[in-house]
Amino acid sequence: MKIDFANLQYQYQLYKSEIDEAIQAVLDKSNYIMGEEIVQLEKGLEEFTGVNHAISCSNGTDALLLAMMALDIKAGDEIITPPFTFIATAETIAFLGAIPVFVDVDESTYNINVSKIEEKITTKTKAIMPVSLFGQPADLDEVQAIANQHDLKVIIDGAQSFGSTYKGTSDSNLGDISTTSFFPAKPLGCYGDGGAVFSNDAELADIMRQLRTHGQNKRYHHKYIGMGGRLDTIQAAVLNVKLKHYKKDLAKRQKVAKIYSQKLQSHDIVLPIIQKNSTSAWAQYSILIKQRDKVQDQLKSKGIPTAIHYPMPLHMQACFNYLGYQLGDFPVSEKLSKEILSLPMNAFLQDKEIEYICIQLNRVSLM
Ligand SMILES: Cc1ncc(COP(=O)(O)O)c(C=O)c1O
Repeated sequence: MKIDFANLQYQYQLYKSEIDEAIQAVLDKSNYIMGEEIVQLEKGLEEFTGVNHAISCSNGTDALLLAMMALDIKAGDEIITPPFTFIATAETIAFLGAIPVFVDVDESTYNINVSKIEEKITTKTKAIMPVSLFGQPADLDEVQAIANQHDLKVIIDGAQSFGSTYKGTSDSNLGDISTTSFFPAKPLGCYGDGGAVFSNDAELADIMRQLRTHGQNKRYHHKYIGMGGRLDTIQAAVLNVKLKHYKKDLAKRQKVAKIYSQKLQSHDIVLPIIQKNSTSAWAQYSILIKQRDKVQDQLKSKGIPTAIHYPMPLHMQACFNYLGYQLGDFPVSEKLSKEILSLPMNAFLQDKEIEYICIQLNRVSLM
């Protein structure tokens, strides 16, 4: 059997006629920049998440930049964030000249360990940036409570978690600003780069809308230093089709995760844990396993692709040498990076494929 990790081609074939039609409509109108599909998408995202303002943008990295720029994060400001995440989370902080201050993650959820945040707060701290890693929100009430107490902003890096909930609310609808990515393999992905920022604060939303288009409040009148951060109309057209199917696709991802959790029975495997009051968008189904690299090779030989998210925590990345962190500073993140293994995850995995993966993995991990 040969398993597809993300099944992007299958997904396209499934929605092909609708997607082709939506793209063709943009081509026919040639409204490539900020066409009406963008307006439709933003309205759809607001309806889906319940947030007051959804603003589409070029990708999930620029979404983080827009969020921090709107909150006036400047050189020398400190932002607290986990080191066990994709580089964009901390890279964007550093890109603005601000300082990523890392706090280790919790071993069971892989998300920021809220009990360790307060000890890192200084007079320079401006914001906390939790990441909803692999699709599951962090302990957002606790993050918000700490932020309120110390007068800090909360920016949720929800690049992986569109459609997840925390205590019944979308994580796009929490924090001061929440972001997401529509990278093709994300739970809701377009066919290129894409992203969005979300906020219930009308003023912040207005600033982000302007920042996205070179800081202009009127054509060729630039109130802020902004960026070329718009989403392409063609990508919005793709997303409008996929958003219509997203509830169903999300439920299927949740079903895939449930079957994995039922069928993976080896004692050598640590299964992902979703907290009682949260739901995950299951961007990844990631297990912990010793001898991970060996297991990965064996699965590969059986036609099962896997991925490692992430092999090196951010405090050990060369680009962050200047921050002065050392091996041993964040032991949980360091351990996870050695044992984490993401299994094929998408809405279109067949039951027999999941069964096959579980049989192979239960077997392989015993060796
Ligand atoms: C946690 C996290 N933040 C930010 C990003 C950046 O998103 P994009 O690739 O759309 O720029 C990603 C993308 O993988 C991510 O996983």
